[in-house]
Amino acid sequence: MTLQIEPSDSTCGARVTGFDLSGALDTQTIAEIRRIWLKHRVICFPDQFLSDAALEAFTVKMGGFGEDPFFDPIPGHDHIAAILREADETAPLFAENWHSDWSFLAVPPAGTCLAAIEIPPTGGDTLFADQIAAFAALPDERKNHLRSLTAIHSAKGAYSTDGTYGKSDIGRSMAIRPNDSAHQTRTHPLVQTHPETGEEAIFSCAGYLVGIEGMSDEEGFAFLVDLLAWQSRDEFVYRHVWEPGMVVLWDNRSVLHKATGGYEGHRRELHRTTIAAA
Ligand code: SIN
Repeated sequence: MTLQIEPSDSTCGARVTGFDLSGALDTQTIAEIRRIWLKHRVICFPDQFLSDAALEAFTVKMGGFGEDPFFDPIPGHDHIAAILREADETAPLFAENWHSDWSFLAVPPAGTCLAAIEIPPTGGDTLFADQIAAFAALPDERKNHLRSLTAIHSAKGAYSTDGTYGKSDIGRSMAIRPNDSAHQTRTHPLVQTHPETGEEAIFSCAGYLVGIEGMSDEEGFAFLVDLLAWQSRDEFVYRHVWEPGMVVLWDNRSVLHKATGGYEGHRRELHRTTIAAA
């Protein structure tokens, strides 16, 4: 099969055909996939229909498994989490705010793989916002200001027992396991240099940011709301429409992502692995 790369009409995102991800991918092929991934930041591979074992094997080749706190894995596959919503589920949508996966960890993961298992006939798109493009488009003075700031990350709003997925979260089918270790906070520079490409990206997300060092809670909140409006402007956003059998690979160091709804009455299941930092 010939390699074809069709970039989206946004600043990130590309559809890639010509690879069989379940095949024996040699070092050179993996390096080529990595090059395409780093360039487009979010890549999708249609018609892969990967088994869980093949999804894990691909993840190992892309850098090995990252940590997955607060999720129970699917049976028999310690590194796969099911992103699942039953057709009759009424709990609020999972991951419906902009985030970079597990940004509250001391060493957040490089990337995430998500494989379609059951895709609703309509809705359930995943949105990606390009944080390298968002940073590059800022005026120099604003860039310098952002470079000087340190963000405070925490999982407490989501995964503590009082959080969104805590004890009041009833009827969710996903195996989320909240606990109070989520209250821990960790700081990361608000602007990060991508370790593989050298490009600067905004590393700030609504999902896990609880403040900015040196700002009061109110000041920090207002700052983050304003920044997020910039980070998620239409020109930086790629809307990914799922197809059965598709695999998507994104770079948590350069994009934010969020889930969307619009598939009430239909089941949606995807299998997710986390790629460790290089
Ligand atoms: C996720 O954040 O991993 C889930 C994205 C989605 O369900 O579209």
